[in-house]
Amino acid sequence: MPSSALAVLAGSLPQLALSTDPGDLEHYGRDWTRRWTPAPLAIARPADIGEVQAIVRWALAERVALVPSGGRTGLSGGAVAAHGELVVSFERMNRVLDFDPADRTLTVQPGLPLERLQQAAAGHGLLYPVDFAARGSCTIGGNIATNAGGIRVIRYGNTREWIAGVKVVTGTGELLDLNRGLIKNSSGYDLRHLMIGSEGTLGLVVEARVRLTDPPPASSVMLLALPAMDALMQVFDVCRRRLALGAFEFFTDRALHHVLAHGAQRPFEETAPFYVVAEFDAADEAQQAAALAVFEQCLEHGWVTDGAISQSAAQAAALWRLREGITESLAAHRPYKNDIAVRIGAIPAFMHQMQAIFAREYPAFDVVWFGHIGDGNLHINVLKPADLADAAFIEQCEHVTRLLSETLQACGGSISAEHGIGLVKKKYLAGTRSPAEIEVMRGIKRVLDPAGLLNPGKVFDTP
Ligand code: MLT
Ligand code: ZN
Repeated sequence: MPSSALAVLAGSLPQLALSTDPGDLEHYGRDWTRRWTPAPLAIARPADIGEVQAIVRWALAERVALVPSGGRTGLSGGAVAAHGELVVSFERMNRVLDFDPADRTLTVQPGLPLERLQQAAAGHGLLYPVDFAARGSCTIGGNIATNAGGIRVIRYGNTREWIAGVKVVTGTGELLDLNRGLIKNSSGYDLRHLMIGSEGTLGLVVEARVRLTDPPPASSVMLLALPAMDALMQVFDVCRRRLALGAFEFFTDRALHHVLAHGAQRPFEETAPFYVVAEFDAADEAQQAAALAVFEQCLEHGWVTDGAISQSAAQAAALWRLREGITESLAAHRPYKNDIAVRIGAIPAFMHQMQAIFAREYPAFDVVWFGHIGDGNLHINVLKPADLADAAFIEQCEHVTRLLSETLQACGGSISAEHGIGLVKKKYLAGTRSPAEIEVMRGIKRVLDPAGLLNPGKVFDTP
């Protein structure tokens, strides 16, 4: 550890509240992946943009790598610090700075938790629509860094769609103020979008201006039990045609099994292999009647075997819990996670191929499928059999992930839909992006972070 380097930083910026406390190093050095042993140099907690710039200039001079840190709820190792990096925690930069009623934007600091951003928007009678289960812990800076998606992408898109401007500090300590809230800006490359989803490898997000929209109309939630995988797409087609969908999610009986074991209420007496959670506008009787008609149509065709439609906000929340509780219910099993994207039309063939691969290679694996089927984004979580050693389990999962990557390559899919590449999927990037694309990415990294200090080793290796 270059302790002299740390002494220089502590001497020039005592207000950073640098910590080398072992508990802090452990806490701030990891995300939800739990696969790497945290070993950062120290934790810095800057309070403003100037301090972030000073940290980057110090890191340049002392050749210390930096790992940006938000809520550390990531699932790809993007916020892991395992090699003596300085963790830059944004937890002191967590305020709403401004509301602009004409532009309907909030200007926020990166450490603001998503849920507090949503509450701030609601306080102005508006909606920040990107949403997912980690809303209470994740931060907007991390959401921007990963271009987070979630449960309402089908209607509102990813984080990218809601970022009207972003300020970033690059690997040279330069502050870039990108797009500044403009709706139209046809003045060359949109560097804002380059930063969104770059996983902290091109710049540190230090401020963002987020767009807000009208609050959503009243909605209801429908839970459907499906007898077979092929019915998923038929039910999706009918729902999309006849309802104003806000979300269309799915999970399997294995996912339900774990959520129930974690305390959720069983929805139906009979189990089914697949379930759909669909949220739809239900502002008037016509929309409510349409939902009932959809349910009856699906029953008649044999695409669903059971169903429930929420009649109150509490019932809607209980149905959502079955889907949103899955990640937490699996956490204790330390699942090997996959977060893939395929075109919607490619979903059935892809699912059949992957199920055949699992059945052939590792029939003993507990494979839990769930996700945002209306976005073509499927989560495939593999749980470790009790009698299998950790190392052997990872090896077997990586073998399957190579086959998964080949299957995705053949159908033009992506090895990461919304979690990012981070450390977890770095090996498989070349199955999703061409050598020419990766070379362009490396070139961009060289321009914005010539010393390779920003989140090194994430997405791809740098010299
Ligand atoms: C989800 O959709 O629940 C999240 O992406 C988290 C996960 O995949 O576990
Ligand atoms: Zn997801």
